[in-house]
Amino acid sequence: MSQVTFFGGETVPLEMHKVRVVQKLNLRPVEERRKAITEAGNNTFLLQNCDVFLDMLTDSGTNAMSDQQVASMLVADDSYAGSASYTRLEAKLREIFGMPYFLPVHQGRAAEHILAEALVKPGDVVPMNYHFTTTKAHILLRGGTVSELVTDAGLEVTSELPFKGDMDIDKLRAVIAQAGAEHVAFVRMEAGTNLIGGQPISLANLQAVRTVCDEHGLLLVLDASLLADNLHFNHTREAACRGLTVREITRKIADLCDIMYFSARKLGCVRGGGICLRTEEQYRSLRSLVPLYEGFLTYGGMSVREIEALTVGLDETMDEDMISQGPQFIAAMVEELDRRGVPVITPPGGLGCHVDAMRFLDHVPQDQYPAGALGAAAYIAGGIRGMERGTLSEEREPDGSEKLANMELLRLALPRRVFTLSQVKYAVDRVSWLYENRKLVGGLVFTEEPEILRFFYGRLAPVSDWQDKLVAKFRADFGDSL
Ligand code: F0G
Repeated sequence: MSQVTFFGGETVPLEMHKVRVVQKLNLRPVEERRKAITEAGNNTFLLQNCDVFLDMLTDSGTNAMSDQQVASMLVADDSYAGSASYTRLEAKLREIFGMPYFLPVHQGRAAEHILAEALVKPGDVVPMNYHFTTTKAHILLRGGTVSELVTDAGLEVTSELPFKGDMDIDKLRAVIAQAGAEHVAFVRMEAGTNLIGGQPISLANLQAVRTVCDEHGLLLVLDASLLADNLHFNHTREAACRGLTVREITRKIADLCDIMYFSARKLGCVRGGGICLRTEEQYRSLRSLVPLYEGFLTYGGMSVREIEALTVGLDETMDEDMISQGPQFIAAMVEELDRRGVPVITPPGGLGCHVDAMRFLDHVPQDQYPAGALGAAAYIAGGIRGMERGTLSEEREPDGSEKLANMELLRLALPRRVFTLSQVKYAVDRVSWLYENRKLVGGLVFTEEPEILRFFYGRLAPVSDWQDKLVAKFRADFGDSL
């Protein structure tokens, strides 16, 4: 990472790039924001982009691309089969990860679909550090279960631990002993563990997981969607990685895995995905599912332009200047909110700033979705679109009862190289205002609840007139301000 010291002594996340293409944003008056969130069923996924000022919903497919990536799209080789763009991507993946086989898919969950279909049998268990929504849904659909084995410390909201995504190795051994290795489909590790605040895994922990897998002949599968942030943390926080280049750390991580899959909407800053495999046997067992569900083997549902840009994006991910931008901006946001007393997940992770709705709205019961309510409130307060990552993002238990999430988080994602520091400061300001006025915020109740992945398009209503009161307080405090 480029080390730049400021004469004034302050820590400033200094961008090592410049902006060359911009998009105009709208910040609607608070009354219109109130109307828009009502029309969206209080679900930030259902807001129209034209009504959103800061889109912090996700970094998925929304990271800024580099000039080199955009330029590469012009030389894409458009053909159904045998595209040279694909050959370039395959070569780049081999160079970076050292895995000989690759299957392209249209996005991360398509990789999960194929892996679950090929590897999970009814009754199987998939031990993992922590689940991701779509990963779990695909495993459950195949009749399997997931077993979450993140260390207890990983679920502590405030902490100084550098690798809160690590798996508890004793718990892994216990799960394998209990299920029997023949009923373990594979062991899954998720880099930059999404649902617990973008918290990284250490190389040392991955090595320990590998050892256990070897003892039982189990496959180790890495979800590398958030690998870029994770690599930055290995590079800066892990003693064993000191002195290694990002490329060397990447290779050490890949060498421990049998299979790596990723959402290229995150890793590589394009729109696509893929599965890297080590053996021909694995490749052959998964291969036929790609033309069946995704597209021919040399595009897998991706456009060749995205494939070309992915090749460049993966190469750029090996640059510490590139991968440090997100974590540094996230740290600036988390540390400022923390300084102001707003409950956030610490230490700062990757992906975005995670506000702890359990503490922020400790008067809102978990079955009234405090993180969802905070998401609606943050939109009203500032036109900021975050994402609920709590009970609403869980599936109900088979008996219809709520599965209360371990954490109630409002995720304010910072897509890489997209926002400026003044926009981050604005978000901090509006979230701090909301914290001052937190008692005004109430819960939500479903008015329309889909059975699968309900958080995507379910609709909710406030349990009281709390949103009117919030709008009135905004006007009283901010006058004519947008
Ligand atoms: N795995 C992880 C760790 C992810 O974060 C995601 C997506 C996926 C798999 C699925 O990939 O979206 O390309 O199908 N995360 C997005 C998010 C949706 O907003 O965090 P996908």
